[in-house]
Amino acid sequence: MNDLIKKVDEYINSQANLDLLRFITCGSVDDGKSTLIGRVLYEAQLIFEDQVTSLKRESKNQGSQDGDIDLALLVDGLAAEREQGITIDVAYRFFATERRKFIVADTPGHEQYTRNMATGASTAEVAVILIDASSGLMPQSYRHSFICSILGIKRVVLIVNKMDLVDFDQFVFQKIVLDYETFAKDLDFESITPIPVSALHGDNVIERSSRMKWYSGPTFIGLLETIDISNLSKSQYFRMPVQWVNRPNQNFRGFSGTVVSGGVTIGDTVKVLPSGETADVKDITLYSGSKNQALTDEAVTLVLSKEIDCSRGDIIVQGDSPIEVADQFQVNLVWLDSEPGHQGRSYLIKTQVVQGGARLSEIKFKYNINNLDHLVTKQLNLNDIGVATISLDKAAPYESYKDNRALGSFILIDRYTNATVAAGMINFALRRAQNIHVQNLGINKNAREILGGHKARVLWFTGLSGSGKSAIANALEGRLHKRGYRTYILDGDNVRHGLNRDLGFSVSDRVENIRRIAEVANLMVDAGLIVLVSFISPFKAERDMARRLFDDGEFVEVYVDTPLEEAEKRDVKGLYAKARRGELPNFTGIDSPYEAPENPEIRLDTDKNSIEESVEDIVKFLRLE
Ligand code: ADX
Repeated sequence: MNDLIKKVDEYINSQANLDLLRFITCGSVDDGKSTLIGRVLYEAQLIFEDQVTSLKRESKNQGSQDGDIDLALLVDGLAAEREQGITIDVAYRFFATERRKFIVADTPGHEQYTRNMATGASTAEVAVILIDASSGLMPQSYRHSFICSILGIKRVVLIVNKMDLVDFDQFVFQKIVLDYETFAKDLDFESITPIPVSALHGDNVIERSSRMKWYSGPTFIGLLETIDISNLSKSQYFRMPVQWVNRPNQNFRGFSGTVVSGGVTIGDTVKVLPSGETADVKDITLYSGSKNQALTDEAVTLVLSKEIDCSRGDIIVQGDSPIEVADQFQVNLVWLDSEPGHQGRSYLIKTQVVQGGARLSEIKFKYNINNLDHLVTKQLNLNDIGVATISLDKAAPYESYKDNRALGSFILIDRYTNATVAAGMINFALRRAQNIHVQNLGINKNAREILGGHKARVLWFTGLSGSGKSAIANALEGRLHKRGYRTYILDGDNVRHGLNRDLGFSVSDRVENIRRIAEVANLMVDAGLIVLVSFISPFKAERDMARRLFDDGEFVEVYVDTPLEEAEKRDVKGLYAKARRGELPNFTGIDSPYEAPENPEIRLDTDKNSIEESVEDIVKFLRLE
């Protein structure tokens, strides 16, 4: 297969002056997608002799077309690769005609493959949506169209396939087209071009069909060759994120990266963000030497006319079209992980320019992608598509996805598994934080600590319900108080009667519960107090999020390690019994998980030690007396 791609690549290179169209094919398994693309490849005579021979042989063995060449085998061959490696979820095929070059992204049609479709669609200019004429529009047709629309595809080719099965009936075709147009009017497409086709027999694929005289539009390949794709992305301005500063010796300093949009020519004035400094482009170099101009997708090194503040993570842009920088965005998200995304949780974000922390601050809604209804939710599950706001730890240069796919897209990464959990598209930046500045206040934490006579701290007690968190925190506070330390206890049960009264025990509510408490604890530490936080806080992600809010050494995680059997035996509040009876859903340890800390500063073994001994351990650790 690689050999084929290489040969095709050579062929494509030989046709370098032709423009390139990237399209994606969408259809469910039986719509004839593979047959259509197989036929195009076959008839465009890009199947090499040896492959055709093996295809004929295979068709005899396993093809479904009575010894005729089964074109689907050509494309489905990739399915095996997919099953083995899982690295290829999207198969890219290359071909060319005399008028254009093409890259087609072929994605499996099952519902769970939303992520592959999203990947394929993110670089496509045109979507080819297949409908089986004999069965009409299917839920997948809506789903696929919606994903294409949200990923910014503006041109749709609606292939109504298998026209032979409906006697090439014009009215069947028209009904499907009408149904589709009615559905798609709420989507963001600029053109929908329907074509009646029989991929199996070749009608209207490359040759005009003699059996559908009533149809006067283009053939499939004719349309692909001529469809207008100029100016589909609005921002053609030059943008190049700096991947590294190239400084082999004293005399040379260049900024290397890949041009993600537009182009740059020697002599152009460019601006570096975030510093805002400008300079002229003195030279554009590649390994092979200098060139006069660099275009989109080219990896180059720019030499500028003067010394300028610019480093990895900055972006160089056309001088008269600087881009904005923001730290909060409204975005579309496609959730790609089996572990759901929760409102309030913190992830890593990676854009073309920056990498850093980002919180999924609010999930506005997710789509029912069969009818585009908005569903209220606080979590996104695998394959869900939703609208959310995210908040970055540090501001980043951006453009909306609509204007610039490269600078408007990002991925979210799980902090622990390193898995890509979501693909995102920026709709717009939120201005709400823009006019809010940090006030410099005269009295700071340090001054308050001096007045109080001790350092501020947060002691974060985590453990199962009934583990003894509150009892130990209470005893500890008593002892500290007596010695003149200024303390405060934030206790789950108590705070849930006031500040967090609106929260229940779903995962998302617990995430929000801890987020608020971490912020409150942060304020109290700033006030110079020793804060004792006593919450189950079952998730590692949120405990670590809390830790990141504090200075080194300020956050002390205290794991009150009581086995479930022991906590359940004590059952002071009778809640375990209730949960076992099924009267209390999402109870920690029963049907809601508890993720034990791996490296807590203090671990208390309540099986072996009394409350007093535990308190003693903490006091010793903190060297408070
Ligand atoms: S947390 O998981 O969000 O950190 P938090 O510490 O605030 O929980 O509240 C836990 C207390 O709420 C428990 O000690 C218990 O008294 C009560 N509770 C009520 N329902 C549940 C439940 N489903 N799971 C755990 N605790 C519950």
